[in-house]
Amino acid sequence: MMEALDQAVDAVRSRAGKPDVAMVLGSGLGDYAHALEDAHAIPYAEIPRMPLSSVSGHAGNLVTGRKAGKQIIVMQGRTHLYEGRSAAEVAFGVRLMGRLGAETLIVTNAAGGISSELQPGDLMAITDQLNLTGTSCLIGPNDDLLGTRFVDMTEAFAPDLIEVASRVAGDLGFELKRGVYAGLLGPAYETPAEVRMLRTLGADVVGMSTVLEVLAARHMKMRVLGISCVSNLAAGLSSGPLSHQEVEETARRVQSRFRALLSGILDSL
Ligand code: HPA
Repeated sequence: MMEALDQAVDAVRSRAGKPDVAMVLGSGLGDYAHALEDAHAIPYAEIPRMPLSSVSGHAGNLVTGRKAGKQIIVMQGRTHLYEGRSAAEVAFGVRLMGRLGAETLIVTNAAGGISSELQPGDLMAITDQLNLTGTSCLIGPNDDLLGTRFVDMTEAFAPDLIEVASRVAGDLGFELKRGVYAGLLGPAYETPAEVRMLRTLGADVVGMSTVLEVLAARHMKMRVLGISCVSNLAAGLSSGPLSHQEVEETARRVQSRFRALLSGILDSL
């Protein structure tokens, strides 16, 4: 693992520098990379051992740039377990950005809304997560250079970063919702019965990413902020079937609000 990471770090270090903030942009949200100044895209294919994303709406670039006087590194698109990748591969990009020196990680995703408080188009700060993938990127021998064997997940999402994000949203004139993200394996959307189960378990939104990235980040002691874009009501909560097209369309619809929120957060860090 360290050998693969070191190879990737060596390949991008001269172009990426030491980032202050790392970001992962989810389905349909990758355009934020264009908001960076002096942006420079490194295709994942040019980074040794970096897994490629095969999903529509996930561009597959590591983008470096500046914003609000800070050095930023952005994963424009991610890989998922359902693509047949291992948990370690799914976490690889976050570990790479952590090894480059990023101490803060902002993870974003599109998610299905379960809570009755949530509507498609809402943005939600993730307060906690349910890892329901059945796996972890921390399985196997622990690499002490990355972090400790048993990772504390009590405050996986930094409360002060949630406060910053909420204040920025308020200044922009909208409410940043809050809730718990359930991360499932996918790739099928949930059944209505599964959605009822998830609600009982305490989930407010459901998606197929993020939870392993957050585990990897907390292992490395990165501070994490998670933002979900509620792209649809979860299965059974609205009439009609779910589609990836709807997910991408909603993400596009909230693009400008999402962009303003992220920029405001980077300004405030
Ligand atoms: N379920 C799972 N993942 C998702 C959803 C959903 O409803 N919407 C966007 N990603």
